[in-house]
Amino acid sequence: MTDILVDSFGRQITYLRLAVTDRCNLRCTYCMPAEGAAIVERKELLTFKEMYRITRVLSELGINKVRLTGGEPFVRKNFIDFIKMLSFNELLHEINITTNGVLIIEYIEVLEQLKVKTINLSIDSLDASNFAEITRRDVFDKVWDTYEKLKNSSLRLKLNIVVQSGVNTSEINDFVALTERENIEIRFIEEMPFNGVGKRITAEVWDFNKILHEIKSTYSNVEKLPIAKSSTSHMFQVKGYKGVFGIIPAYTRTICHDCNRLRITSTGLLKNCLFDEGVFNIRDYIRDGVSDAELKQLFIDLVAKKPKNGFVAESNRLKINQVSESMSSIGG
Ligand code: GTP
Ligand code: 5AD
Ligand code: SF4
Repeated sequence: MTDILVDSFGRQITYLRLAVTDRCNLRCTYCMPAEGAAIVERKELLTFKEMYRITRVLSELGINKVRLTGGEPFVRKNFIDFIKMLSFNELLHEINITTNGVLIIEYIEVLEQLKVKTINLSIDSLDASNFAEITRRDVFDKVWDTYEKLKNSSLRLKLNIVVQSGVNTSEINDFVALTERENIEIRFIEEMPFNGVGKRITAEVWDFNKILHEIKSTYSNVEKLPIAKSSTSHMFQVKGYKGVFGIIPAYTRTICHDCNRLRITSTGLLKNCLFDEGVFNIRDYIRDGVSDAELKQLFIDLVAKKPKNGFVAESNRLKINQVSESMSSIGG
């Protein structure tokens, strides 16, 4: 029997989220401070060759889906060549990308030819000036062009909206309105304190229930859709609309019971959970010259210790390491 990655709760890990860089060309307020975002030295980043090897070994252990994230993945030089390289791995069924949409546009045709299936595009506002306030860069038109082009491509598109109290909450129903005529999938995400600073004090907490209530107070005919196994989002549709919308309980964490995810940050830190502080540095282990068999055993042993859920992972953190690192270093 071939080895697979299973934790002590019987969950099989089949989905790798790989952050290819910690750098980003935007400065979203919920992710990074305006100035002085912490980035690491280049030599601390995994090389593409190292990422390729890690992914190949993991695919031999049953990982069949990889999501490439960042920072912004397209900021890393030769990123497209890395995707081409990964596409040769026949054990991978899909390679997906989460992006801010500023640099991807010229690569869309190439991506359609590769093993890339889905692009998750962050778009937190439909209003150019609000968008500029959130991202601290004036790039709305570019991101909107990307949205249009992706919508008309053969790639599956999901829109990510981080719900920020008093910042874009008045736009929630505008986003839902977009699904009337467009066959698109949008997902509202609960804001988490991964912003390089820590918890943001807001007048109101916009959790899953509040977001859904806000939508239902405008749309009385909202239907719940079946949820795909291990999905982060609960999906809904306004009756008769072409598109769908979802809500991701990222912070209230009601999705952990069938989690199938493993994370590797751009510096090679393995995370069993978004909320843990990183359990092992794969980069240093590889650079010490280990064999594939040793690497496989390490992954099997580490995954076995995956915490039951995001609350347990968070409580296992050292006191001095409370949740506050930037999402750009974790990859979401
Ligand atoms: P799919 O492959 O489409 O299911 O993507 P995804 O939703 O897993 O990925 P994406 O990069 O679009 O992330 C959307 C939001 O979900 C981000 O805010 C992530 O941080 C969050 N998210 C992804 N995986 C997890 C998870 O395991 N736990 C929690 N709490 N949040 C997650
Ligand atoms: N809370 C919730 N989601 C976040 N993301 C980035 N920072 C946060 C945060 N603090 C989302 C981005 C992107 C995904 C990878 O993670 O919007 O879509
Ligand atoms: Fe950049 Fe993404 Fe963080 Fe925004 S959320 S600053 S786009 S890494």
